Amino acid sequence: MLKTIKLIKEKDPAAQSILGILLFYSGLHAMIFHRIAHKFYKWNLKFIAQLIAAFSKFLTNIEIHPGATIGERFFIDHGTGVVIGETAIVGDDVTIYQGVTLGGTGKQSGKRHPTIGNNVVIGAGAKILGSFTVGDNVNIGANAVVLSDIPENSTVVGIPGKIVRINGEKVTECIKNLNHTILPDPIQEELCELEKKIKQLQERIHCEVCIRKEEMERKLKEENKEK
Ligand SMILES: CC(C)(COP(=O)(O)OP(=O)(O)OC[C@H]1O[C@@H](n2cnc3c(N)ncnc32)[C@H](O)[C@@H]1OP(=O)(O)O)[C@@H](O)C(=O)NCCC(=O)NCCS
Repeated sequence: MLKTIKLIKEKDPAAQSILGILLFYSGLHAMIFHRIAHKFYKWNLKFIAQLIAAFSKFLTNIEIHPGATIGERFFIDHGTGVVIGETAIVGDDVTIYQGVTLGGTGKQSGKRHPTIGNNVVIGAGAKILGSFTVGDNVNIGANAVVLSDIPENSTVVGIPGKIVRINGEKVTECIKNLNHTILPDPIQEELCELEKKIKQLQERIHCEVCIRKEEMERKLKEENKEK
């Protein structure tokens, strides 16, 4: 807990004192309750675990299922409306903001919530839905809806979530060059096909213009010689 308090002080410019953090940070309160509830859950005392989780939700407006596995230094900033499902797994040094859901799609059973890597930031209102993996060092933009695997070191924004940055570089390459399992988007694929065809046509036109130019230059030279 001390590590988390230190982290909050480092990460949140609004955090003024340790006493303030202890008293006013509902994300911290929710995590303290969750650590206790999770222990009861693991001891198979699920009713007590759920009782603690429900009390925590009543106090903080943050709903973390006692079954969720959460790593070290987890920081929930603001917190209102956060929901974390039973089979969610969260790595170390993850920060999430208000309104984030780590939920299921309603179509899966068993492991039905996401696995979040280390050092991930999930923006306000983002929804991560389904049993897939978000890699280490990923930034998820505010209000994004992420529905499939995200590779490490990337930034995802929008609905459905699209990768706009990988390893600090903006993604400008045709989506065809990227992994289809990451970005299944038929409209983008159509656009890529069109882009490819336009490039081919441009190259063909350029070639023909060059050939014509060379022919004309050759003819001119021959005419000049004859004269
Ligand atoms: C996504 C985010 C992390 C920025 O990451 P980044 O790697 O620096 O990305 P950039 O700012 O370079 O943006 C890349 C592109 O995504 C767009 N973008 C950024 N955030 C976006 C968002 N939340 N939704 C939709 N598009 C977004 C940018 O406009 C830019 O588009 P462009 O390439 O067409 O210009 C940040 O914008 C964000 O949403 N942070 C969440 C913060 C938050 O929730 N704060 C709550 C405080 S209470």
